[in-house]
Order: sequence, then C-alpha cells, then structure tokens
Amino acid sequence: MTFSLNWRVALLGFVFFTSVAFAADTRPSAPVSSPSAAHALAQRPGHAGIASANFHATEAGLEVLAKGGNAFDAAIAVASTLSVVEPESSGIGGGFMAVLHRADGREVFIDARETAPAAVNPKDYLDKDGEPNRDNALNGPLSAGIPGEPAGIAWLAEHYGKLPLKDSLAPAIRIARDGFEPDGRLVNAIAEREKDIRRWPASVAKYLPDDKPPVQGQLWRDPDQARTLELLAERGRDGFYKGEVAGKLVNAVRAAGGNWTAKDLESYQVKERTPIVVDYRGYRVVTAPPASSGGVAVAEILNILSGYDLTKLDEAHRTHLVIEAMRRAFRDHNDYLGDPDFVKMPLDMLLSPYYAAGLRMTILPDKATPSSMLPASIGVDPGMHTTHFSVIDKDGNMASITLTVNYTMGSTFVAAGTGVLLNDEMDDFALVPNKPNVYGLLGSAANAPAPGKRMLSSMTPSIVFGPDRVGVIGSPGGSTIITQVLEGILAFIDGKDAQGIVAQKRFHHQYMPDRVDVEPGAFDPATADALTRMGHTLKDRSPWGFMNVVTWDIRSNKLDAASDPRRESGLGKVQ
Ligand code: GLY
Repeated sequence: MTFSLNWRVALLGFVFFTSVAFAADTRPSAPVSSPSAAHALAQRPGHAGIASANFHATEAGLEVLAKGGNAFDAAIAVASTLSVVEPESSGIGGGFMAVLHRADGREVFIDARETAPAAVNPKDYLDKDGEPNRDNALNGPLSAGIPGEPAGIAWLAEHYGKLPLKDSLAPAIRIARDGFEPDGRLVNAIAEREKDIRRWPASVAKYLPDDKPPVQGQLWRDPDQARTLELLAERGRDGFYKGEVAGKLVNAVRAAGGNWTAKDLESYQVKERTPIVVDYRGYRVVTAPPASSGGVAVAEILNILSGYDLTKLDEAHRTHLVIEAMRRAFRDHNDYLGDPDFVKMPLDMLLSPYYAAGLRMTILPDKATPSSMLPASIGVDPGMHTTHFSVIDKDGNMASITLTVNYTMGSTFVAAGTGVLLNDEMDDFALVPNKPNVYGLLGSAANAPAPGKRMLSSMTPSIVFGPDRVGVIGSPGGSTIITQVLEGILAFIDGKDAQGIVAQKRFHHQYMPDRVDVEPGAFDPATADALTRMGHTLKDRSPWGFMNVVTWDIRSNKLDAASDPRRESGLGKVQ
C-alpha cells in the first residue's frame, strides 16, 4: 500500500514535469563564448597528469605537454595515438565525447559523435523476413556512422589547443609510421574478430599480416593511417572530410555495399553543448548531456542519493540505496533520450531534484523493489568496448574524453588506402523497434535512425569538483560506463585518490535484467548476505571496465593519475 501510494507521488511528479518542462538542448555548434569565472579555480597545479588505456598514448600526451601544449593539445595526441595502438576501442573512424574545463573556468561538452548518413534506410537492418539483420548492424560499411573523431580533433586544436595539429599529431604519426608492438588485448581483439576481418581485403592487409593475427611483441606498422593523420595535420578537418581521404572512404564504402556520399563527410559537424551540472552534497559534477544518456542517468542517481547521508549507513544499506537509485535511473535511461538536435527530451524533469524526490519515496529502506513493479521500460546489457582518458595540465585545464568505434574492432571494415577502421556505431540506434542491439538495448522512437542524426551513447566523461579536490573520471563499458562513473564519483567523494578509484571493485544494476552484477570481492560475505535478504539477486561477473582517472588535491597540490589495474596496457603518469 505504502509502495503504490509513493509510486503515485513519483508519477505525479513525472506528469507535472513532463507537462511544464519538456525541453531539448539544441545548442549551436559554436565555441562557448561566455566565460563563467565562477568555475575558475584560484590555484594551478604546476604539473600535469594523464591516464589512458595505453602507455604509448599517455607518453604521447606528455610529449606534447613538454612541447608547450596544453591539456587539449595533449588530448589530441592521446586520442590519435589510441587510434593507432588501441584500434579495437577507438579511432579516427569513430567518434568521441568530451567534457572540457578550461583554467579560466569555462566548461563545455564537445560532441564528436558519429552521424547517420543521409541515405540511411532502416530496411537495410532487416532481413527478408523482417527480422533484425545483425550482420548489417554490426559488420561492414552499413554499420558505420560518419566519423566524428577527426573533426573533433581539428576542433580541439582550433578552439582550445595552443599548438598546431602537426605538433599534437606528431607522436601518432611517428608511431604509425615507425611501428609499435601490439599488446595482448589488441592481439586478442583481432583474433576474436578474425572471421569478419577476413571479409574485407583492406582489413586483411592491415590486421592479418602474413595472413594471421599479429603476435604480441611483433613490430607492426600502419603507413596508411600515418598518411591520413598527416593529411589531417596539414589540412585540418578538410584533410579527412574532403579530397583524397574522403574520396577513398566514399569509394570503399560504396564498393562494399554502403551508402555514404561525399556530402555526408563534408557536412559533418562537431557540436558544442552545455554539459550537465549536478550539485551533490557540496560537490559539483560536470558530465555528459545527450546524445549521451550517461550524464542524465548519473545526475538522476546522484539526485536520488542526495536525500540520504550515505556516510551514516552500513555498507549493505548504502549499497542497497545505490542499487535502487541505479534501477530507477536505468528505467528512464533510454525511454526519452536521443540526439538533442532531433528530439525533444524531458531533461528538466529527469534532472529535477523534485522528480528525484518522488523516486526516492518509492525506495524502501531495506527491501529491493522488483523491477517488474516499476512501470515498464527497456533494459540494457553491458558491453565492454570503447576507451577513456583523463588529462589535467599544469595550468589547471582539464579534459575528460571517452572515445569509441562501438563493438570490438568496430565494423572490422578498413577503407582501402586510408588505414581508417570504420566504426559500427549504427547499432547504437534503435534500428528495429523492440529488437535488442549488441548490448541487449531496446530503443525508443527518440533514438530511431534518421539522416544526419547522432545515435544515443552511454559515454559519460565527467569532472568532479569538491571543496578542495578535483577528479577527472571516465571509463568504457557500454551501459556499465554509467555505474562505473557513478561509483568513481562516490569513491572520489569518499576521499579516494586516483589509484583507489580505479581499483575499487564494482557492482552494476541496470533495471533489466533485475540483478546486481558483482565483481569478485566487491562485497564481503556479510554485505552480500544482507543484500540477498533484502531481495537483491547478486550475480558474480568477471571484472569489467577500464577506468582512467586523474585527481588533484588542491590543498597539498598533489596530482595522481591512475589507469585501471584490470588491464595491463594502461598508464597513469604525472610529470
Ligand atoms: N558505442 C558505445 C556507446 O557509445 O555507448
């Protein structure tokens, strides 16, 4: 009785806010021009920290800082190097989302997400019986959106960096030309996707040298990508979206059954958006707006949790409340969200503390709410791809950037003569109503494909400002990105440094399936028992995520940079 009454209160809040506050964020694609001095920090670190998923990329960023670059030049170096050494996760054939904080206090969200080509046709993703054609959604050129990363890189250099692109892209070009030793993760990713790679001659040439996957430690060169990056360095975005590279991309895509045109590439636009900002118990969290669903979900969870003093609770009750907040935020996760340039979204409602208060009233203090008792929505499954890196420079500029080609090795399709591995981001659209994508995600109309539209993402690059500490936080991992970032923020607020945040054991609930995924060692036996008694279903899972975090303790002026210990190739380093 209490439950159904409380749920009605939440629904009333929902109805009220949807009727008065149906709002879309359709910010213009121009640099943010009004300084917000309120967010400028009085102090500067005097030294810099970078954490990324690959030591070559972290070193590339530090090299560019040493040349006089700032955090945004370093971000270009890290992103472009990841395109060479970690192509299974991100690259210039994909896209990224970034939260930037400039030392002068300005904050902006850079949306360099891929877009659907103008000729997108939902029927391409159905077979002749009307069933989803998973192959077209995940493999080959039909699965690829128009890349955003090269335009995003050029945008960062033009509007935020200090160095010319030829300097910030130099490490990636050198590594691609001179060669590097692939790590075990890349070798495994190629082996995992070998069957699909074999379908495309240029992919075979690039990823199966000697007609087999490279072995760890073998020197591996990528001259085509080096040339493409050189053209980007020389000509800015036109080096990729017009001329030689664009011509090769379009020809290769069309020859293999895709539908890109030169106009799709030429008309690609980076979007600047206002980040979502949520105040949580004296901390200010700056995070990703749509076309990411991540920041909305993190904000909704924090708003729900802000009504409790978690520090006063034992671990089981604290965890119970976090799980219940996750459950409710994920229920809303994809129902309403899509590309803000195409859909109206009830963001004022979803981000409202009153809406959160209504949801909080539906949470019982020591009993799990079965997801089936909440109004029906859609469920998502974790995916384990994508990559994230974090940068703070000596002046206090900060970059939190999550990048992706979607599934491991993206579409597996390399456009001949470019070295560009195309993403398979089209699968992040709700391609077929009520049929799941690779993450088990069922989409809503808000995320239906349309020409030039951005597909919904879970990427949640974030920066947290406390009274005397800052944390730059993010991770890959499909829908688990959202709960990883949330748990990272809570760990930061608990006082953990970068190493403590990335090493912390994780748990994840996403409404459906109605279970808590648990990393080994995340809960002690007493906590696990207590949660089970409250009605939670715990499921042991292998470790997930690859979090890369930089923290700055302003009082002691100590920077920490840490890469997730779950994988060995990452590097967090301060210089
Ligand atoms: N492609 C994964 C994401 O953007 O969430």
